[in-house]
Amino acid sequence: MTRWRLLALATLVLALGFVGYVRLRAVQADRIVEVLGLQPGMSVADVGAGRGDWSVELARVVGPEGRVFATEIDEGRLDDIERASRRAGLDNIRVIKAETRDTGLPEACCDAILLRHVYHHLTEPDATLASLRAALRRGGLMAIVDFEPWGWSASAADVPPGRRGHGMPMELLQDEVRGGGFEIVRAESGWSGRDYLVLARRPQD
Ligand SMILES: C[S@@+](CC[C@H](N)C(=O)[O-])C[C@H]1O[C@@H](n2cnc3c(N)ncnc32)[C@H](O)[C@@H]1O
Repeated sequence: MTRWRLLALATLVLALGFVGYVRLRAVQADRIVEVLGLQPGMSVADVGAGRGDWSVELARVVGPEGRVFATEIDEGRLDDIERASRRAGLDNIRVIKAETRDTGLPEACCDAILLRHVYHHLTEPDATLASLRAALRRGGLMAIVDFEPWGWSASAADVPPGRRGHGMPMELLQDEVRGGGFEIVRAESGWSGRDYLVLARRPQD
C-alpha cells in the first residue's frame, strides 16, 4: 500500500472513531437528561467537567433561562471548558474552580448534579459529598456514572482505601453516598457499556 493510501485509511479510521464517540456521547447525554429530569430553565452542576463536552450537552437542554455550573479541580481544564462553551456559542455555563474538599458550588444552586467518571478520583469523598449536598436543592437528584475497577489497574492517586483499582466499586459508592446524607433512588450496573449509574436524591427533610 502506498504512503498516501495508508494516510487516507488512517484518516478514515480516525474520522469514524470521532463520529462514533460524538454519537455515543449524544446517546448517553440524552439518557442522563432523562434520568435527571432536566428541563429548560433548570440549573445543573457538571462536577469534574473535564474538557466540558458534557457541560455543553447539558447547557443546550437547560437553555438560555437555565444554567450549568461546570466545576474542575485542574486549572488547565477550566480554559478548556470556557473554550468548549464559546465554540458551542453558549453563555449559560459558569466555570468554577473546585478544591479537594469543596466543590465551589453555591449553596442550593442546583436542581440536579452530574458526576461522570469523576467519583473514583475524589480524594476527600466525605467532604465533597457534604459540599454536593449543600449545593443540591431539597428533593434534587444526583446522577453518578462510574465503573467497576479494572482488573490489575492501580487506584487513582490519593484516593481512600477500598477502591480495588482504577474505578469505584458500585456497592461501596452507594454506602458512601448514603453516608453523605442522600437516598439511593436507582442503581443500575451495565447502564452504558462498562458504566453503571447510581441515582441519588437529597431528601426533603
Ligand atoms: C476522567 S475525567 C472525566 C471528565 C468528564 N466528566 C467526562 O465524563 O468526560 C475526570 C475529571 O475529574 C476531575 N476531578 C478530579 N477530582 C475532582 C474534584 N474533587 N473536583 C472537581 N473535579 C475533579 C479531573 O481533573 C478530571 O478532569
